[in-house]
Amino acid sequence: MLGSGAREHALVAALAADPAVTAVVAAPGNPGMGTGEACLPVDLGDPRSVVALLDDRAGRGAAFDLVVVGPEAPLVAGVADAVRAAGVACFGPSAEAARLEGSKAFAKEIMAAAGVPTAMAHVCTTLEEVADALDAFGAPHVVKDDGLAAGKGVVVTDDRDAALAHAQTCLGSRPDAAVVVEEFLDGPEVSLFVICDGEEVVPLAPAQDFKRVGEGDSGPNTGGMGAYSPLPWSPAHLVDSVVDRVALPVVREMAHRGTPFTGVLYCGLALTARGLRVVEFNVRFGDPETQSVLARLASPLGRVLMAAATGTLADLGPLRWRPEAAVTVVLAAPNYPEAPRTGDPIGGLDAAAAVPGARVLHAGTALDATGTLVSAGGRVLSVVGLGADLDAARSVAYEAISRIHLDGSHYRGDIAARAAAGGVELVEA
Ligand code: AMP
Ligand code: GLY
Repeated sequence: MLGSGAREHALVAALAADPAVTAVVAAPGNPGMGTGEACLPVDLGDPRSVVALLDDRAGRGAAFDLVVVGPEAPLVAGVADAVRAAGVACFGPSAEAARLEGSKAFAKEIMAAAGVPTAMAHVCTTLEEVADALDAFGAPHVVKDDGLAAGKGVVVTDDRDAALAHAQTCLGSRPDAAVVVEEFLDGPEVSLFVICDGEEVVPLAPAQDFKRVGEGDSGPNTGGMGAYSPLPWSPAHLVDSVVDRVALPVVREMAHRGTPFTGVLYCGLALTARGLRVVEFNVRFGDPETQSVLARLASPLGRVLMAAATGTLADLGPLRWRPEAAVTVVLAAPNYPEAPRTGDPIGGLDAAAAVPGARVLHAGTALDATGTLVSAGGRVLSVVGLGADLDAARSVAYEAISRIHLDGSHYRGDIAARAAAGGVELVEA
């Protein structure tokens, strides 16, 4: 398992629970995933570093059967290509196929070719083009950096000057920079992860995440402050329509171009008054949605990811799901997302994990020189509650998180609150 966040911790836990999996090793991992040989150092940005890890294990007679890539940056850098070239099965797309996330203009091109519903957009390389596009679409304005921007590339604003300023920053960042100006999509957002083997697709359960730092969707955007699954309010046949109208057409288009997509296609969707629209694609699991989705998956995960990596999804059979609901609440360090403070001791994890139905997943944690668990990033922990329904799952997650001590930390108290009360979560980003 390549990566070090709570998403990867959730994947490691699900893989370890698969009776067919003999061992799971994380690189670089985090203290929640284990110590010693359970977590190996690696430079995720360098495919050679990953291959060196594989060679080292193979040389010791303990070769890996499958590599699962967590974050997008290694995929865009070609890690999956290097792993496959080294003769090891890999869950994750090639660098070519990862452009679905790595370039928003490329994603738009594929969607146009495949007839996938998405926001109208203009790809702009000058500020004049941006200004024209902003005026053509009107407010609210949506301006996106074409390339990977670690969650900071998108600005949604009513303020035309702020939209122009963001475009200027993006355009000035690289000589070949481009920005995508889009029509604003109004309506609740849904994340659906679709497992792909280059040809066949298998959808997971839909989830919804909460991107703003503050309650009531206030404050700046973050990597995600919480998530839940299932979505009791979502339309019947939502998953089928995403498979038929989005995932399959994209997978066919990618195969047709000679760059088949293997791994998970994260379909970020808006359910607008005019129907389903794709907001974005990612080429990896979402964080924190994965923590909620995997808590509900009853089928063994290793088999699913291996089938995707080896082109045998057609033989997999339907996935099984637990009837329960899952709610994930993220514990963030003080000053997250601006300038998170790190290095503070974390306590109460055993008490939190002792809440029936609760699981604590690590993200930004580290062991200091004295062996004390301390914060080491903005999003420190994900606390997942599993319960009979969303209300029960919320109670589990919030009881567990209330038992954790981290000086100055914060979390949102309203994750899945409206959905649990029978409403639609009109999450705003
Ligand atoms: P992206 O990186 O493309 O996912 O954008 C980040 C967030 O910005 C999305 O999850 C949406 O909440 C918001 N967003 C992106 N594109 C649009 C759009 N066309 N209309 C409304 N909101 C958007
Ligand atoms: N939860 C949003 C993302 O993973 O991109």
